[in-house]
Amino acid sequence: MVIAVDGPAASGKGTLARRLAAHYGLPYLDTGLLYRMVARAMLDAGHDIRDAPAAAAIVGSFDQDAFPEERLRGREIGEAASVVAAMPAVRTGLLARQRHFAGQPGGAVLDGRDIGTVICPQASAKLFVTATPEVRAARRFKELTGRGEVVTQEAILADIRRRDARDSGRSDAPLKAADDAILLDTSALGIDEVLAAAIRIVESRRAG
Ligand code: DC
Repeated sequence: MVIAVDGPAASGKGTLARRLAAHYGLPYLDTGLLYRMVARAMLDAGHDIRDAPAAAAIVGSFDQDAFPEERLRGREIGEAASVVAAMPAVRTGLLARQRHFAGQPGGAVLDGRDIGTVICPQASAKLFVTATPEVRAARRFKELTGRGEVVTQEAILADIRRRDARDSGRSDAPLKAADDAILLDTSALGIDEVLAAAIRIVESRRAG
């Protein structure tokens, strides 16, 4: 069983996907981390983040195990990941890794922006997780300040709006719900309620 979890930044999709994977005993891939690794490798090498040929070269050769997660989670890397994610060569270069992960015996849970539309269009269940920009900014603010970043909630809200516009507006695999995805608005829900709703959706899809 493959479960696709898509949605905008800080919508709660990562937490949900991780919990779903634990519930069903499936491996989990946070595909945003792959884009964040490419961005990290670009910045570490001193490239301008908009340098598409440099990003295309990096995506073919970067070592997935070379980046501890704490180097990938910061505010700057989220923004940079969104820039490289709009480059077709980067998306193509990351496709096989994601499909290979999804193709494991027994299946997997993947979260991202284009899992239900491009990476796994045949997924058994597709969830599109949303929340208002204000709720997402509050969540991301809590996460980043908890990690010691100095930032205001207004700045985070501006980041989120800019990232939404870029991720939804790009021509290649834009952020959007697959036609057969079920929308899950987490604005007013706690994680346990979101998980319970998601399990109901998955079970109804499995039942056919
Ligand atoms: O989910 P995240 O915030 O870690 O993702 C970082 C950026 O990576 C996001 O702004 C857009 C890009 N991304 C993407 O384009 N496709 C995916 N499947 C996952 C992430």
